[in-house]
Amino acid sequence: MYILGIETSCDETAASIIKADKKTGKVIVLSNIISSQIEIHQKYGGVVPEVAAREHVLNILPVIDEALSKAKISNKKLDLIAITKGPGLITSLMTGMETVRTLAFAWDKPVIEVNHIEGHIYSNFINPESKINFPAIILTVSGGHTNLVLMDKTRKIKIIGETLDDAAGEAFDKGSKMMELGYPGGPIISKYAEQYQQKNVLNNVSDIKLPRPMLNSNNNNFSFSGLKTALLYQLQKDDSWTKRIDEYCFEYQQAIIDVLIGKTIKAAQKTGAKTVMLSGGVSANRALRACLKTAVNQKLTKVNFLVPAHEYTTDNAAMIATAGFFTSLTGKLTNFTKLRVNPSLQLK
Ligand code: KG4
Ligand code: ZN
Repeated sequence: MYILGIETSCDETAASIIKADKKTGKVIVLSNIISSQIEIHQKYGGVVPEVAAREHVLNILPVIDEALSKAKISNKKLDLIAITKGPGLITSLMTGMETVRTLAFAWDKPVIEVNHIEGHIYSNFINPESKINFPAIILTVSGGHTNLVLMDKTRKIKIIGETLDDAAGEAFDKGSKMMELGYPGGPIISKYAEQYQQKNVLNNVSDIKLPRPMLNSNNNNFSFSGLKTALLYQLQKDDSWTKRIDEYCFEYQQAIIDVLIGKTIKAAQKTGAKTVMLSGGVSANRALRACLKTAVNQKLTKVNFLVPAHEYTTDNAAMIATAGFFTSLTGKLTNFTKLRVNPSLQLK
């Protein structure tokens, strides 16, 4: 079946066409178009919701058109439209939802509403490199969320851990702001951290010591606000911090990674997980991907480790279409075509 996915929960306007096989569960991405607003929001140091919504309005139809033409199919071939219903910025979500409502009505197509976090989780189901065995633990780390999710063999999901304050991506973004490095913080901090690692190949530790909050707590939850405050205090004490940016970035990133990995491994051990997956915007982080892979191989036995291809880590619509495909196999579709005017009420 052919599915059009649409994602507008934050500052990316995205549309994708996938071809999915109900019998084998195989998903092929035919197009994955993303119009990013990063440059527009950079001057404000973060996403401005009202500006994001206005940009979505301008971009959404051209992005959908491009997704269809790149996939070389017409809308008549579509079997389903998948749309992000939340969580996200309300005005951004509304743009996507209203567009889908209209298209579903005009094209006479069923719709599946997808949870954004579920979308990130299913980014691992696009051409997985190895088999997904259940139960699976998924660490979902993005700008707005940090969750440990348990998925059983019926693909039912349960959140078993979450952040009590800031999300991991938010910690990257706010840390970057404190160090006056720009937005979004994750890719910038990771670039400086890599520079530090390259300069210190033999001794990959830092003299700066930041805490690993809740690493040893007796639950699956996270907290990053204390780490952020610890960074602020260190910067305030250090007159020469601007000369040690790469080292600060290395230690700050490593503190986040250590906590994420420690908690994920413990949760996998407790639940007897057979697969560990990583997803969300922060899963683009090369050090996190490498460190989690090493930890899974060293600390867990016979457990597969999966990460999405780079293009499916930050917000995209291929993951929404894929989540829509799998959830539509058992879930409820929304019928916007009911909005059609009753013919008996039409003016003669
Ligand atoms: O999933 P996403 O695109 O949007 C949300 O659902 O929030 O995630 C965006 C987040 C931002 O906080 C950004 O700083 C972070 O993902 N991010 C990264 C990297 N690339 C993006 N964090 C760490 N390392 C990266 N390479
Ligand atoms: Zn996201």
